[in-house]
Amino acid sequence: MKRIILDCDPGHDDMIAIMLATSSPEIELLGITTVAGNQTGEKTFKNALRILTLIGEDTPVSRGFDKPMVRELTVAPRIHGVSGLDGANLPEATVKDTGKHATDFIIETLLASDEPVTLVPTGPLTNVAFSLLKKPSIKEKIEEIVLMGGAIYDSNITPASEFNIYVDPEAASIVFNSGIPITMVGLDVTNKAVFTFEDIEKIGKMGGHVSSVVAPLLEFFAKANLEIFGIEGAPLHDPLTVAYLIDRDVLETRSLRVDIETMGEYTSGRTVVDVYGVTGKEANASVATNVNVEKFKTMIFDALERLDKR
Ligand code: RIB
Ligand code: CA
Repeated sequence: MKRIILDCDPGHDDMIAIMLATSSPEIELLGITTVAGNQTGEKTFKNALRILTLIGEDTPVSRGFDKPMVRELTVAPRIHGVSGLDGANLPEATVKDTGKHATDFIIETLLASDEPVTLVPTGPLTNVAFSLLKKPSIKEKIEEIVLMGGAIYDSNITPASEFNIYVDPEAASIVFNSGIPITMVGLDVTNKAVFTFEDIEKIGKMGGHVSSVVAPLLEFFAKANLEIFGIEGAPLHDPLTVAYLIDRDVLETRSLRVDIETMGEYTSGRTVVDVYGVTGKEANASVATNVNVEKFKTMIFDALERLDKR
């Protein structure tokens, strides 16, 4: 069983990552920490509490930073809406949070754990970077970081960058240079992990209390991605990290050097992936290069079925 902390900015795809993590026997979700990204810190925090209320989970939730380390916050209302989870009305939250800051929860949980823990960031890396700065000794308790972010060749928020890295490139640079084993699940594979409108219709026909809310949410997310990127459905970026922890065969990866551009006028937030080894630098990440989409989709449908039966 993989013991994980999920650091996220829900966010439609973050929501599916939470659902997969909480409903999979292979995963022990020690806690959820939230960060500003898709929407403000207040909204992503409240969304996490509402998602857990919908699925009947009381996973500890701790709110993190409301802005990146040095930059102003960039949010993504065109993709995720004003609430960060537009498309359906989630129940008002009845689960309570820990009352701790995300960095304190991460540090305390890691130091108290007698086994290494995997960090799964699916939003900007602000909380993770500050946790490492605040308490460097937690590195010894981190088995690996499996993050959604970056890309070898793809982009979204700018022609050069992926949103999670772009929002806080200074934080990303700290994480990628931490020496901790990293698996980078980037847009090259997540933009292939698309739930088509037919898949979403199939979810809507499952008839359960969770799937009946997920379907309209993914419909909103899919329409936004079609309008902006021409993607024919909902690319489920974030849950691919959790799916990889459940079954490593869902992704193919290569050990490559990844550096983060923090200065570029047009390229800030770019994950500069040394595909040909021309820098001679030591690899610092396992970079996802291919995805078994059918295996991934089956995992998501099975998770929704389990949640509907609760
Ligand atoms: O670029 C995609 C990533 O940015 C996903 O994590 C999505 O939720 C947004 O945070
Ligand atoms: Ca996210």
